[in-house]
Amino acid sequence: MTEAARRPLIIGSGIAGLYVALRCRELGLRPTIVTKARLEESNTRYAQGGIAAAIGPDDSPRRHLEDTVRAGDELVDRAAARVLTSEAPARVADLVRYGVPFDTVEGRIALGREAAHSRFRTLHAGGDATGLSIEETLKRRVLDAGIEARERTILRALRPGGRDGPIAVLSHADGKDVEFETSGPVVLATGGAGGLYRQSSNPSIATGEGVAIAFRGGARLADMEFIQFHPTAFYREGAPRFLITEALRGEGAVLRNEAGDRFLTAVHRDGELAPRDIVARAIDREIVNSGHPCVYLDATALPRDLLFARFPSVCHFVASFGLDPSRDQIPVAPVAHYMIGGVATDLEGRSSLPGLYAAGEVAATGVHGANRLAGNSLLEGLVFGERVARQLLRPASGGPRPADRTLELALPTGIARTEEAEDLEEVRGGLWDDVGIVRTADGLGAAAERFERLARIASSTRADALPGPVANAGLTALLIARAALARTESRGAHFRSDWPQRRAQWRIHLGWRLKAPAGRAT
Ligand code: SIN
Repeated sequence: MTEAARRPLIIGSGIAGLYVALRCRELGLRPTIVTKARLEESNTRYAQGGIAAAIGPDDSPRRHLEDTVRAGDELVDRAAARVLTSEAPARVADLVRYGVPFDTVEGRIALGREAAHSRFRTLHAGGDATGLSIEETLKRRVLDAGIEARERTILRALRPGGRDGPIAVLSHADGKDVEFETSGPVVLATGGAGGLYRQSSNPSIATGEGVAIAFRGGARLADMEFIQFHPTAFYREGAPRFLITEALRGEGAVLRNEAGDRFLTAVHRDGELAPRDIVARAIDREIVNSGHPCVYLDATALPRDLLFARFPSVCHFVASFGLDPSRDQIPVAPVAHYMIGGVATDLEGRSSLPGLYAAGEVAATGVHGANRLAGNSLLEGLVFGERVARQLLRPASGGPRPADRTLELALPTGIARTEEAEDLEEVRGGLWDDVGIVRTADGLGAAAERFERLARIASSTRADALPGPVANAGLTALLIARAALARTESRGAHFRSDWPQRRAQWRIHLGWRLKAPAGRAT
């Protein structure tokens, strides 16, 4: 093994990035983490409900697999889901070993329930502060292990490299200039693109850059049309869209419309615990039909001490708006939450570019199908992160098999002008308005045109300027819009009002690859 191969570069510091780094170090490698903000700032930090694993006495990986497959609306890759669910117990045991303080009842790990799960199987910590507990614990472990971590540093480009992996071009988060380059294995753990939507549960750093940079570098993508919307984020004009965890509904909270009626019982036999896409769309319909901007989560039937012990973050947050969930209903509305597609990988996290790996939300293994089951996102960062770490120790060639159908996209070229602050707002508004919960061909087409223009915007006036945040956001948004336009059906998180039914010919994964400039083969 060369010295370069022993030094993987890990981009991102959520659960996947931190866990891969720790496991690499335990396996004798010398990883470096690069992260665009502070080490502890990531989407993981804001995860509330928890992490799913079949560890209960009445549960089994097989049941977890079946629930994952059912939620995914006929599109889950069964082999990936089998890996996810069968390796889950061992991976959460790793978290326990690292010191994550999961909540317990009478000495046993407490398990919560979330929508579309047939069993109580969600481990949580600090009540609803699961992501925060995991992030802080893993961060402490990374620092204790002396793993090099470069904060406020961003990946700018991936270029064809040597035998161990691509050349990664990096710069300071504020800087325009390249700071350093590495050549060796690169692990993308950059998370999702939910922050590109105007209404989102994600922090603003979740801008899908990893996807855009990997695509520009030649990696194949898949399933880009599937963006999951979380049904219940706090709604008040001008207030942050704080997540109101689905685990509250798992404990018995119900949804009511402005008139005070429960409306989900008429939509699905599981009512408020129906799959997330169904609940989000039902709420959206209530909002559109009533003209009222939100619906209400009613947890007033739950015991007050349970509410405050199990959901301290939610109770604390809504208290700052004068609400007490044991007395008051919580105003909620859907938000963009999770990117199901991303960089296509095989089950070992290998992308189509030699030496480029992806794990966590940025990766598309097919494990979530068209709609992710709650609690499976933190889990995928661990399960596929472990597999990436083992590959890094003993690299073997491989990669994702081609998607069922692959479309090509030429990189938007030509510098229209340099980027401005409002350009990102245009992406965020365009995605929310036209590539949101309910989509149409007209809206998607118009959005794609705008994103194509934005994807051409330069980061500076220098002729050799690398694409900046706006161009990358524009490209990621363009891929989401184009994929949603191509899929002429409704399935899982992707709903087209002009194609409202599931269609057998679309029981396929849609892939994307770079169209080579004229005269050059890919
Ligand atoms: C939640 O707590 O409702 C979100 C959990 C998830 O997205 O898996």
